Amino acid sequence: MTRDARFVTFEGIDGAGKSSHVDWFAEQVRGRGHRVVVTREPGGTELAEAVRDWVLNRPMSMRVEALLVFAARQDHLDRLIRPSLADGTWVVCDRFTDSTVAYQGGGRGMPLEDIALLERWVHPDLQPDRTYLFDLDPDTAARRRQAVRDADRFESEQSAFFTRVRQAYLERAEAAPDRFVRLDGAQPIEFIRKRLEESLSGL
Ligand SMILES: Nc1ncnc2c1ncn2[C@@H]1O[C@H](COP(=O)(O)OP(=O)(O)OP(=O)(O)O)[C@@H](O)[C@H]1O
Ligand SMILES: [Mg+2]
Repeated sequence: MTRDARFVTFEGIDGAGKSSHVDWFAEQVRGRGHRVVVTREPGGTELAEAVRDWVLNRPMSMRVEALLVFAARQDHLDRLIRPSLADGTWVVCDRFTDSTVAYQGGGRGMPLEDIALLERWVHPDLQPDRTYLFDLDPDTAARRRQAVRDADRFESEQSAFFTRVRQAYLERAEAAPDRFVRLDGAQPIEFIRKRLEESLSGL
């Protein structure tokens, strides 16, 4: 197939609505005649999924958390993301490095230059072609996720944590306006899908 495969990521705080759209979005991409793989972070490979279980459920320091998510990301890039893109297959990924900037940086307070160092080490040459940022106020997001599941280590954090995570996302988006599309997570799902569809035409 063609070599113009795109790398698309979905970002936003827990409960903002990412996972409600990834499979639907992949269907739209398929409908346009492309191969597509849907994946997530932390995760996407056997090893990275095991790391996910640790990171979401075991107590650890902020640095260990950051190192583990980048270790998982390296495996994911090596075994799934890069081979797929090289083969002409689009990659739609639920979370990527922007999550590390937002959660370990904004949320936990890890210096952004330390995260930038790891980012340069693990993927100096690759960024998503498009990142959809689902932006939603932390209280609405908390209500939505409480309605559907038990909280993991991150979801148990207080509203102030998610306010910092959200702010870090918005700053990261501002620094890369060509890559990011901000979506208002408070809008109905159908409205968000219209915006995603419009935006996909330009990809
Ligand atoms: N636009 C929307 N309006 C109302 N409810 C929504 C909307 N989008 C998602 N929801 C609901 O909010 C809940 C959380 O959505 P979802 O699981 O997609 O969030 P998420 O961003 O993937 O969260 P996490 O990061 O924790 O995986 C789900 O129950 C979903 O049905
Ligand atoms: Mg999700």
